[in-house]
Amino acid sequence: MLHDRQEIQQKKLYFQHALANKLVTAVIILDQNLTIVYANPAAEALLVKSFSKLYGMPFTSIFSNTSINKDRLQKLLATGQEFTDSDILLEFSANHYFTSEVTASSVEYNSLAHVLIEFKQIDQQKQISLEAFQQQQWLATRDLIKGLAHEIKNPLGGLRGAAQLLSTELTIEQQEYTSMIIEQADRLTNLVDRLLGPNQLPQIQTHNIHSILEKVCQIITFSNNVEVKIVRDYDPSIPYVDCDQEKIQQAVLNIVNNAIQAIDTKDHITLKTRIASNATINGKRIKMCVQISIIDNGPGIPSAIQDTLFYPMVSGRSNGTGLGLSIAQTLINQHQGKLSCHSRSGHTEFIILIPLTTENLTKENANEY
Ligand SMILES: Nc1ncnc2c1ncn2[C@@H]1O[C@H](COP(=O)(O)OP(=O)(O)OP(=O)(O)O)[C@@H](O)[C@H]1O
Ligand SMILES: [Mg+2]
Repeated sequence: MLHDRQEIQQKKLYFQHALANKLVTAVIILDQNLTIVYANPAAEALLVKSFSKLYGMPFTSIFSNTSINKDRLQKLLATGQEFTDSDILLEFSANHYFTSEVTASSVEYNSLAHVLIEFKQIDQQKQISLEAFQQQQWLATRDLIKGLAHEIKNPLGGLRGAAQLLSTELTIEQQEYTSMIIEQADRLTNLVDRLLGPNQLPQIQTHNIHSILEKVCQIITFSNNVEVKIVRDYDPSIPYVDCDQEKIQQAVLNIVNNAIQAIDTKDHITLKTRIASNATINGKRIKMCVQISIIDNGPGIPSAIQDTLFYPMVSGRSNGTGLGLSIAQTLINQHQGKLSCHSRSGHTEFIILIPLTTENLTKENANEY
């Protein structure tokens, strides 16, 4: 059967175009000056810019700190030698970054060599398995510590009671010793209670998330001698959220307190709220969440504790008990939410995600606080 050559050519062009539009892999093409002349829809989504904005932008102005630099791209244009870098961190537009496998090859247009770059984002799969692993580890550590704390708590009560009884039999001078026993037993009980974590079920009601954050700001102002600079970056269109006000307040407070302890007087803390769509929580895709970010421009989390940050008793401070973040994690988990963290020097961001229900979304907006 004979085919019309023109028809074949037309089909080829059409499907090539359709394919580029449908690909989940982000593709961009750079001209001889290394400026963008083409970006498919996946690249627009990845770079969070429309094609009309990307067109004509120098590639080097989009990314900072990346191994795909001008020299390597120019060499590719000259020699046609393609390369692939796997697992590289691409950082762009003020603290937005992703991990990707990048392949750069050469294509010809109007007899001139161009650079074709493909980005295969690997963040999501990697993130999901890492999160599942960390969640398991966190649960195991928490259960172990809870069991231990429970065992310590009972004899501690007996010890305190006995010291109290004994003190009635002693002289004033001797009572100093029993007072010390009672004092230390109280201190340990306090620690054990924190180790056991929040034990009450959340009292879920509909709340304005910004009112909760403002309450946290108030508490910080009253409880700190030095002035803490707080920048508010609220999305006023965020609907009311079903949550336990006290518990969310406590979780945010624990995170903000850590930031205050880490930053310098010239640094600041940003409280940011947004709606996040299609977030993954415990392997499940959640359509809509409210996202609260607590960001500081301090020195960052010490790298030695980054992987175990949310485990109980992990601390980078000499006088820290290492329970603040573990408790915050439990409180957010009680809301079927997620607490995560990205940190490097100059930018530490804790992200709280709380799922929104369809009811939340249909209620009137909570744009006042
Ligand atoms: N914003 C931040 N910047 C730098 N380091 C941080 C930040 N937040 C947390 N950390 C580090 O994480 C550690 C764990 O924090 P976490 O709140 O769990 O325990 P802690 O603050 O040491 O003790 P606790 O909160 O129980 O008094 C801190 O000791 C600190 O080293
Ligand atoms: Mg803390």
